Amino acid sequence: MIITIDGPAGTGKSTVAQRLAQVLQFEYLDTGAMYRMIALKVLSSAVSLEDSDQVANVAGATQLEFDQGAAILDGGDVTHRLREPEVSAAASVVAQNPAVREILVSQQQAIAKGCDIVCEGRDQGTIVFPHADFKFFLTAAEEIRARRRMEDLQRQGTEASFNLVLSEQRERDARDETRSIAPLQPAADAVIVDSSEMTIDEVVTHLQAIIRKSH
Ligand code: C5P
Repeated sequence: MIITIDGPAGTGKSTVAQRLAQVLQFEYLDTGAMYRMIALKVLSSAVSLEDSDQVANVAGATQLEFDQGAAILDGGDVTHRLREPEVSAAASVVAQNPAVREILVSQQQAIAKGCDIVCEGRDQGTIVFPHADFKFFLTAAEEIRARRRMEDLQRQGTEASFNLVLSEQRERDARDETRSIAPLQPAADAVIVDSSEMTIDEVVTHLQAIIRKSH
């Protein structure tokens, strides 16, 4: 069974997807981490983010793995680097690159093959798994999303101002929503859940109830 959870940054998507996978005893795939790993590799190299051919070459020559929740880039654990603000911004730039998307989409489909899995990202219900068993799209008011992101960063020891987080989030949302390939949008058959006034546990319970009801 495939369950997709898409939506913009700061909706609690990752935590919801992880918890849902845990309670259902499903695998979990964080596709944003894959774009982040490519972005990190490009940032650590001499390649410019704007050079789409070179960025695509980097993506094609990169080994991405997950090991018990850890993100492994070419054999090294980079989990702790992936939420850095520069990596977040660069991830949404490399995600505009059609060749990068093609490579990562086919890896995502290969990972999910034969699994019960919760896949989380921006295009999971629209492009990657159009026949998923359940599709959810999480939203929340932008100020609430920015506050959650800021609190996340603080927990990881990075101080960030609310206004800066909000403006970076707006830039990233705009790039994700307006790109020509796989723009962020709900699948026609996705259940849209506004998490503005909900805790993570409430969202997970809500999704579980929907799954139980129709399965
Ligand atoms: O979900 P997360 O914030 O980690 O994703 C980082 C970036 O990767 C997003 O801003 C988006 O540009 C890109 N992304 C994507 N498609 C996905 C997952 C993430 O374009 N399926």
